[in-house]
Amino acid sequence: MTNPDVQRLFLAVWPNEATRAALVDLQKRFPPGIGRSVNGDNLHITLVFLGAAAEERRQCVEQVMTKVHSPAFSFTLDQLGYWRKPQVLWAGSTDTSSSLLGLAESARHLAEQCGFTIEERPFQAHLTLFRKVRKTLRDLPTMIPIPWAVNSFTLVESITASSGVHYNVLRSWALSSAATDSTSG
Ligand code: 2AM
Repeated sequence: MTNPDVQRLFLAVWPNEATRAALVDLQKRFPPGIGRSVNGDNLHITLVFLGAAAEERRQCVEQVMTKVHSPAFSFTLDQLGYWRKPQVLWAGSTDTSSSLLGLAESARHLAEQCGFTIEERPFQAHLTLFRKVRKTLRDLPTMIPIPWAVNSFTLVESITASSGVHYNVLRSWALSSAATDSTSG
């Protein structure tokens, strides 16, 4: 039985409308039936998967994330990939020096202060486009680069309903070169 006091949380970056539209167009370039396409409103890149958290821990995360001092930045999604085991087809970036890694690293470090045990495996920035892609894909379409301006990051609750997974953005923090601002969302 699920515990209503425990939320399934993650920290993420959410695309703006232009980037989301480009990603939805990209999804349409794949043949129908390739897998289960992620709903446009759900497209995101996870920075840190936190997992199940009770109220106290969620509040702690909300407090410590105000300490993130990453500046706003842009990067380009320019790569497609397929992971056979989780059956996921994703878009990513070949820019491994991306500020995205720095943001994920800071967020992870701060989340650990709240007692979360974060997965040891290295951060692999990816945006899941399709799930349940069963057929091994060798020839992926050419990726038309998609720019992404990251001005904020978010704390998100993942809710599993009979209609599917819904992501509820609980809070967002603006990124800026001067200071990190916190806004309720
Ligand atoms: P995915 O897109 O590769 O599945 C919400 O589930 C988000 O957290 C998804 O973006 C998911 O990545 C990510 N995530 C990372 N680690 C996870 C884990 N151990 N279990 C579930 N989701 C995880």
